[in-house]
Amino acid sequence: MVILGIETSCDETAAAVVEDGKRILSNVVSSQIELHRQFGGIVPEVASRSHVEKIIPIIKQALIEAKMKLEDLDGIAVTFGPGLLGSLLVGLTVAKGISYGLRVPLIGINHLEAHLYANFLSYPHLRPPFVGLVISGGHTELIFLSGKGNYQVLGATRDDAVGEAFDKVAKILNLGYPGGPIIERVAREGRPHSIPLPSIRFKEDTFDFSFSGIKTAVLYYVMDLEKEGASIPTADLAASFQAKVAEVLAERVFRAASLKKVKKIVLGGGVSSNLFLRSFIQKEKPKDLKIFFPPPSLCTDNAAMIAACAYPKIREGLISSPSLDVQPNLSF
Ligand code: KG4
Ligand code: ZN
Repeated sequence: MVILGIETSCDETAAAVVEDGKRILSNVVSSQIELHRQFGGIVPEVASRSHVEKIIPIIKQALIEAKMKLEDLDGIAVTFGPGLLGSLLVGLTVAKGISYGLRVPLIGINHLEAHLYANFLSYPHLRPPFVGLVISGGHTELIFLSGKGNYQVLGATRDDAVGEAFDKVAKILNLGYPGGPIIERVAREGRPHSIPLPSIRFKEDTFDFSFSGIKTAVLYYVMDLEKEGASIPTADLAASFQAKVAEVLAERVFRAASLKKVKKIVLGGGVSSNLFLRSFIQKEKPKDLKIFFPPPSLCTDNAAMIAACAYPKIREGLISSPSLDVQPNLSF
């Protein structure tokens, strides 16, 4: 079964052709980072306009690279939420048009679920139960998947998403946008734990997260040094911030796995491409836990994960109606 995946939920215009949910025939991602850099973040109107310009050429390129024609497609999978309303609408409208024109099933995909499904492209035999952690620019969701489609949200962020915190700390340190990959690079020259940053503790026993306190501690540290006219230890701050975030994430996933008595942890989303985080979790994990990460290129937004997520659903006949609408606030 050959599925065309389409992803336009945020600032990447992406299309991919995936066979049987596991063989990537093409995976084209066009990033808008350069467009948004001058604004220091994503501007929704600019994003949707750029999707309109790029979506058809990107789909054509995905078909050419896969050596497929439109008529070879067995289904069209598209992100219908969560994400930016105008951006989601571009992908969904094009997907509906192709599905209607070819008379092949349309299936709307939850972007968060797809971030976890990126793992199935590398580990096709991966099965629930597992604890999943989606860490991206807009989301920090800890979930328990007991069986197919049975998602229980265990915890989420109460303020900034992890990726958002990376982006904001990079801004505080004048490192540019998007912050995650730059912080990772700069942190390699710094000493983790060289600068004490707070761990947010909640009064109640919870799996929720909070990252704004760590971010604000970085801000105050920088402001105090600036007042004194001292130089800013950028690399040490980046390394300490990154290490603190890794510590918080690892604590939550290990505790969740223990509570749910599962032996598998599955990560996804842009932040899970962070190599420091990946090796920290691998190093600190209890012996009997197995950790799954997508390859870094499938951690950030892409359409192969959308097509992969659609495959088992289409096989079960779980297809969407032509009246499917976007859901910008969709959750698990
Ligand atoms: O999953 P994604 O591509 O888009 C969303 O669904 O949000 O995630 C983008 C986020 C950005 O905040 C970016 O700074 C962060 O993921 N990110 C990283 C790294 N690469 C991307 N954060 C930390 N380390 C990285 N290497
Ligand atoms: Zn994403």
